[in-house]
Amino acid sequence: MEKLIIEGGRPLEGAVHISGAKNAALPILAASILTAETLCVQNVPRLRDVATTCALLTQMGLWVRQPAAGTIELSAHAIANPLAPYDMVKTMRAAILVLGPLVARCGQARVSLPGGCAIGLRPVDLHIKGLQAMGAEIEIEHGYLIARAKRLRGARIVLDLVTVTGTENLMMAATLAEGTTVLENAAREPEVVDLAQCLNAMGARIAGAGSDVITIEGVECLRGARYRVMPDRIETGTFLVAAAMAGGKIKLEGARDDILDAVLEKLRESGASISAANGAITLEASGRPRAVNVRTAPYPAFPTDMQAQFMALNAIADGTALVTETIFENRFMHAQELKRMGADIEVEGNSAIVRGSAHLDGAMVMATDLRASACLVLAGLVARGETVVDRIYHLDRGYEQLESKLSALGARIRRAG
Ligand code: EPU
Repeated sequence: MEKLIIEGGRPLEGAVHISGAKNAALPILAASILTAETLCVQNVPRLRDVATTCALLTQMGLWVRQPAAGTIELSAHAIANPLAPYDMVKTMRAAILVLGPLVARCGQARVSLPGGCAIGLRPVDLHIKGLQAMGAEIEIEHGYLIARAKRLRGARIVLDLVTVTGTENLMMAATLAEGTTVLENAAREPEVVDLAQCLNAMGARIAGAGSDVITIEGVECLRGARYRVMPDRIETGTFLVAAAMAGGKIKLEGARDDILDAVLEKLRESGASISAANGAITLEASGRPRAVNVRTAPYPAFPTDMQAQFMALNAIADGTALVTETIFENRFMHAQELKRMGADIEVEGNSAIVRGSAHLDGAMVMATDLRASACLVLAGLVARGETVVDRIYHLDRGYEQLESKLSALGARIRRAG
């Protein structure tokens, strides 16, 4: 199994380019199911989850091509097999994103029900209820969701809680429904907006994406389009935290600061200087960061996908921080691994008290999920001696060439095994 070996203690200096956003690319690739014409998606990051999505779509009968690095063309001329099998859903929960598009376009879908995962139970009841409100009949048979609908009907759907992929699934399904759908308490994440913009470029009529009420007027069919995926705000945030911890000065090109307010605010509070101009964000930091409290919540509040990285920062910060996770019930697995590196962390329910230590020590640590792996890499960058991060296949799901980008900034990091 591949590992990352990191020699800690070097400041970060230089510039790297930010990749396309994983969590925007995945629903946009699934949106190709909605049209018989070709959808050309640009700025797609080279990630394991993208490869899994392409394999899933190919197996359904879509024609998937990569004419150039970062560009994927998809044609759902015919969908012979509207199925998302267990083997694929178990490795990538985002496969649930094919459910809405398949029911809308083919009138049927068979999608493996995702189980629990490393960060929480993560049910999909709101995806199901929303589709049922639009007239789909859904049954669960042998671990699979079987959905059928002649043509979906527009409906007013009030989501019980804010769900990102739930909002995306229902928004995609509603584009081809008969009549108007109103999604209330919709997720406001920038990735939802990116998907809505892509769907509108395909001929959908969506208004309000980015607010908590999204209105979708159904159309008869969608057409092909060319769409460029937004930059990854979590990759951006991860590099910024790396430099805030290690010290130095980095420039992130092709990044957006307008969708990172809560994260930038916390980094400034920790003592970093940040500026943004011409599509680039620059961060400069020296000395130990100050401890910062964080509390995760849906966008525009502090993102759960940055919680683990800030726990690493707090582990070496001056002071004590309270980290509260309100989105997922089990997203503190990295705390135990950080403690093995000498961090002082006490987890109680959905909160962690992190008392900053002057030093962390390199150790063999194990990644349990994508953002937990990022947290351990960040800790390795500042630890004394060598850190070996095991099970980095989690990282490859969501960070494009993390080690080469960090090496370009002067980190001593290499892949082995
Ligand atoms: N939830 C339900 N019922 C549902 C749907 C969600 O109870 O039907 C609960 C979840 O269990 C969770 C909360 O609602 O407690 C929010 O979950 P959400 O549905 O928003 O999460 P998601 O759509 O499955 C996406 C991202 C995650 C990110 C979360 C929160 C994608 C592909 N995944 O997941 O990204 O953490 O939103 O922002 O967009 C990651 O990139 O590392 C990652 C985990």
